[in-house]
Amino acid sequence: MLPIRPRRNRRSTGLRALVRETVLAPSDLLLPLFVVEGRDVEQPVTAMPGVARMSTDRAAACAREAHAAGVPGVALFPALDDSRKDRLATESRNPDGLLQRAVRDIKERAPDALVITDVAMDPYSSDGHDGVVTDDGRIDNDATLPILADMAVSQAAAGADMVAPSDMMDGHVAAIRSALDAAGYTDTGILAYSAKYASAFYGPFREALDSAPRHGDKQTYQMDPGNVREAVREARLDAAEGADIVMVKPALAYLDVIAAVRQAVELPVAAYNVSGEYAMLKAAAANGWIEEAPARREMLTAIKRAGADVILSYWALEVARELGG
Ligand code: PBG
Repeated sequence: MLPIRPRRNRRSTGLRALVRETVLAPSDLLLPLFVVEGRDVEQPVTAMPGVARMSTDRAAACAREAHAAGVPGVALFPALDDSRKDRLATESRNPDGLLQRAVRDIKERAPDALVITDVAMDPYSSDGHDGVVTDDGRIDNDATLPILADMAVSQAAAGADMVAPSDMMDGHVAAIRSALDAAGYTDTGILAYSAKYASAFYGPFREALDSAPRHGDKQTYQMDPGNVREAVREARLDAAEGADIVMVKPALAYLDVIAAVRQAVELPVAAYNVSGEYAMLKAAAANGWIEEAPARREMLTAIKRAGADVILSYWALEVARELGG
């Protein structure tokens, strides 16, 4: 007779629930939202069925719904008209800019929802890059830092709970932390995109924001997909510079990176289930090739199992509802 039978623990729903190691909860999730000018506006994003760019009133309603379903907060990304973009991303520091108004609107209508804002130049940059582009086409790291710092202060002033630098400039967390503290925003947190890869999976997001680089690519600042030790180095640096949460992005093709960063730092680890990951499953589901609801829960559970405490996902609201949040 076989004395050891692992299947005993899988016999019933109750047993499976009892021994389940990783349980996804609505409180693990954050919902990214794209905001546009106007009122009562919703513009579908072609490559992301079910996702739309929304005016700030709609975004606030969405944040309320997400919060009611148990999702602690939203991550905001502004989609700006080209006329507002310039080489220094000046609009990113406008106290009455679209993003700043969106933060205030959400804080007014959904006061308990956390609001996390993206710090990077690309949505505001006529070059479509996350840093300042020099005349000879290089990314000027150190000229970018004060711009990121001012942007973060402007977002904190609007009421953001956390700012999330996604620019991958060296020294960004330290520059932002000291600027926030100097301006009196000692309680505003930093969710650092520490290990952000130069990935093909951001395509649909760049369509949503019309933020693709006008020249070149992002390989001199975003990381090479072959590297994992470098991710640990980046995460430790951001932790030492004062990050409150470190992030790995994308998530699904980088589960080993999430696990390595989890081991290396004590801070909470976030992972971004990016636009291309969403689009892939949506496309397969639309063709009837994969069943969307169980597949997305499986993906998000895998990201959590790898070590993520926080998951940014365009599915946050639907999944939270399914989980009974
Ligand atoms: C911009 C930024 C990007 C994403 C989040 N912040 C795109 C990029 O770096 O080009 C991608 C998110 C997604 O694909 O869902 N700094």
